[in-house]
Amino acid sequence: MRLKVLVENTSVSPEYKAKHGICFYIETGAHKMLFDLGPNELFLRNAEKMGVDIAAVDTVVISHGHNDHGGALPLFLEKNHTAKVYVQERAFDKHYTKVLGFYANVGIDATLKHHPQVVLTKDRAVMDDGLVLFSGVEAKELCSVSNRALYTKRGGRIFPDDFSHEQNLVITEGDKRILIAGCSHAGIINIKREAEHIIDGKLTHVIGGLHLYNPVTKKQESDVLVQAIAGRLTGDDTSYYTCHCTGQKAFGILKEGLSDRMCYLATGAVLEL
Ligand SMILES: [Fe+2]
Ligand SMILES: [Fe+2]
Repeated sequence: MRLKVLVENTSVSPEYKAKHGICFYIETGAHKMLFDLGPNELFLRNAEKMGVDIAAVDTVVISHGHNDHGGALPLFLEKNHTAKVYVQERAFDKHYTKVLGFYANVGIDATLKHHPQVVLTKDRAVMDDGLVLFSGVEAKELCSVSNRALYTKRGGRIFPDDFSHEQNLVITEGDKRILIAGCSHAGIINIKREAEHIIDGKLTHVIGGLHLYNPVTKKQESDVLVQAIAGRLTGDDTSYYTCHCTGQKAFGILKEGLSDRMCYLATGAVLEL
């Protein structure tokens, strides 16, 4: 599998602009995919620089209903008229972050819910051999406190977000079993456990944001929480490639605990697994 980072909060060099969000281009033996699209047109500009043909993409996964992951969906659909776009059915609900007592919209364009290229997913979706999507992870332990600033609207009422709109991808290829997550709002420990239950085996790699940083308040999760997560992740042989909402300080703590098994993925990076 080859992965190119088209959008992430930081960049490998000034050649690539960075932006708060995620867009990964992923090539497997059978597919050309995008996991998330980022918030704006940046993925198109960086795709051109990195030799990625957006019109040739056959599969898109939107990890959850937040703008920094699916905001660019209208732009993608202008450039690509054939790919299937897998979105959890609740991702098109309204989503907010609470700032100074006000609810600010952080959702994605709900008018695209019934676009012919959009495939609405529920708890589990098998996209193809070796490509499984799952959602509905119970946020049992070691979750980000900054999740509490996030809300959703259902039936005309605003509720604390339960992240039922968040889906994650497992790619199985050869001897690799790779989990790809967007923000890990449900907590990486819980998401990883569910992924390993689904594949009935251990993951070799985990890629994605770990939501240990609140981009609005610029506050990092407590060192105690991050250290507890690091402690749990040291208990196996999985390799981690993180980015985005993990935050630089939390990354430093995780890197201390996991050493070579924890790497950072910035815009412009290419990963071969
Ligand atoms: Fe995010
Ligand atoms: Fe998010």
